[in-house]
Amino acid sequence: MSELIEVLTKDGSYSLRSVFFQENFHSLLGALEETKKKFTVPSDLQRFEGRSLEVLDICFGLGYNTASLINELIKQKSYLNWYALEIDKKPLEYALKNQSFQNLWAPKIQQIFSSLYRKNCFEDKFFNCKILWGDAREKINIIPATKKFDLIYLDGFSPQKCPQVWTIEFLSKVSQKLNPQGYLITYSSSAAVRKTLRNLGLEIFTIKPNLNSRNYWSQGTVAIAKFDKFKFKLNSNFDKLSVMEEEHLLTKASIPYRDQNLNSSKEDIISKRLDEQLSSNLLSTKKWRTKWGMTKSASRS
Ligand SMILES: C[S@@+](CC[C@H](N)C(=O)[O-])C[C@H]1O[C@@H](n2cnc3c(N)ncnc32)[C@H](O)[C@@H]1O
Repeated sequence: MSELIEVLTKDGSYSLRSVFFQENFHSLLGALEETKKKFTVPSDLQRFEGRSLEVLDICFGLGYNTASLINELIKQKSYLNWYALEIDKKPLEYALKNQSFQNLWAPKIQQIFSSLYRKNCFEDKFFNCKILWGDAREKINIIPATKKFDLIYLDGFSPQKCPQVWTIEFLSKVSQKLNPQGYLITYSSSAAVRKTLRNLGLEIFTIKPNLNSRNYWSQGTVAIAKFDKFKFKLNSNFDKLSVMEEEHLLTKASIPYRDQNLNSSKEDIISKRLDEQLSSNLLSTKKWRTKWGMTKSASRS
């Protein structure tokens, strides 16, 4: 699973490409940039200034999302209780050896990451971190049932390349781990993922695009649990879905990925969904694309 190729992205930050999944870990426009825009900024971290927060990072990889999170939390003196799920230790090994990755962050991050690599955990006054190695579908069950998160980052390879982490069954487990008003944040704007999250009772928002982004209509999704509009301060980084995005959820692209026993292969999940799409009466996604003058949305390859 672990053949990885080093990739230098356009903002000068390093990333990896997985030969097995045939996909890059980050957008070629910039790994650091992507992390900040799609994960750190939508997290609204100022809410936790001087306070504690619980975070789950699913598909930890090199650790950009967590490194960027911790970098901000150090500045605002927050206390972090953190879990991560990741199947492969190699990206973290790479991150620890790559000096220009380490130079992006406060020295504390190197200390935390090397402890995660050696001991699967780290603890001091501000940070309590545990990483669980293995298939996220299985390892999520090891997180204590009472543990709930204010933020969950979901950064798997795209649904077509790694559907295992985007199925109804897995997303249902993930969303049950959110605190009320907790955010699940992902770079994906897939209709299947959004529709599934909405059907699971979450309120979904689009992460606003910037002009550089290849997928110019959205940079991802924030899904909020037990959404209470009176507790929610409108955020300038995400917004309600546009009409175009709502219509996307009425097309065959919104048919979910399914993995009944949480152990199906990628091929099984994809082929079952294709069968379901073929027999569905939902609108054709091609018509939706034509109506909105859209090219097929880009993955990270
Ligand atoms: C797009 S990369 C993640 C990028 C990462 N967040 C970062 O900052 O570098 C996807 C990651 O998902 C991991 N992965 C793939 N399938 C998985 C699974 N079933 N369970 C847990 N991790 C998985 C891969 O090993 C890879 O590190």
